[in-house]
Amino acid sequence: MKPATYSEPMNQLEDWDDFVATRYRQGKTEEEFRNYEADANPGVTQFYRQNHALQTFDFVIQKKAEYCGLTRGKKSIWEMAEYLNTLVDESDPDTDLTQIEHLLQTSEAIRKDGHPRWFILAGFLHDLGKVLCLYGEPQWAVVGDTFPVGCAYSCDIVFPEFFAANPDSKVPQYQTKYGVYEPNCGFDKIHLSFGHDEYVYQVTRDYVPEEAQYMLRYHSFYAAHRHCAYRHLMNAHDEQMFEWVRKFNPYDLYSKGRERPNQPEILPFYEDLISEFFPAQIAW
Ligand SMILES: [Fe+2]
Ligand SMILES: [Fe+2]
Repeated sequence: MKPATYSEPMNQLEDWDDFVATRYRQGKTEEEFRNYEADANPGVTQFYRQNHALQTFDFVIQKKAEYCGLTRGKKSIWEMAEYLNTLVDESDPDTDLTQIEHLLQTSEAIRKDGHPRWFILAGFLHDLGKVLCLYGEPQWAVVGDTFPVGCAYSCDIVFPEFFAANPDSKVPQYQTKYGVYEPNCGFDKIHLSFGHDEYVYQVTRDYVPEEAQYMLRYHSFYAAHRHCAYRHLMNAHDEQMFEWVRKFNPYDLYSKGRERPNQPEILPFYEDLISEFFPAQIAW
């Protein structure tokens, strides 16, 4: 359940997505980019304060143990998408997209560009892990840019000054360049701050190609895919696969301005697509 001591700073999870999209608005100069604080509303700033202070190495290990064993029952992809759709924005139901609409806008943009079916599928799946919110996890444990724990924080992570409040910043072992990791050990061996990326990756990893696994697992790891931080922990295979993470990112960031998906028209395509890759039910 949600810890009672921390209120949810953002009105809705989309406030974080909107902030990221603004931060990386196409055509922004480097100078404009560095002024991201101006684009963050007070809720978003407060959200990062919590996220950076509370995502500790121990917290990540604990949440992985809790969720990555996939012991929360079996459901179809569709059932989970419908469940995620119950996460609604009460403040402005007319103009904001539902969760399924965001997934479909992302996947439809990928489809229109002629990408392979597994890539379209990754677009549809990418935010299903936000059901963590419905499991009772606080916003700071579900969304937000992800970052490695157990080693020094990169200054390419948004609001790096907020890490001063993280207990790990007082643990010398966690504050060296490599921390608890080996040079170029590969991202599979590192622990990222916990959130919807890791969860959807764990749920779907047995069913989707590796390129899609990377897209799902690292789509919020902006320090790495946008700023090329943490290359000293990547191996050659990660370097290759991150090209796919970079290909995916614009579809996630810039899908919102696009037209509302015509669900009755496109749903048959997605029913086929999902049954091509997934059995009727999978473990969550
Ligand atoms: Fe996401
Ligand atoms: Fe998204």
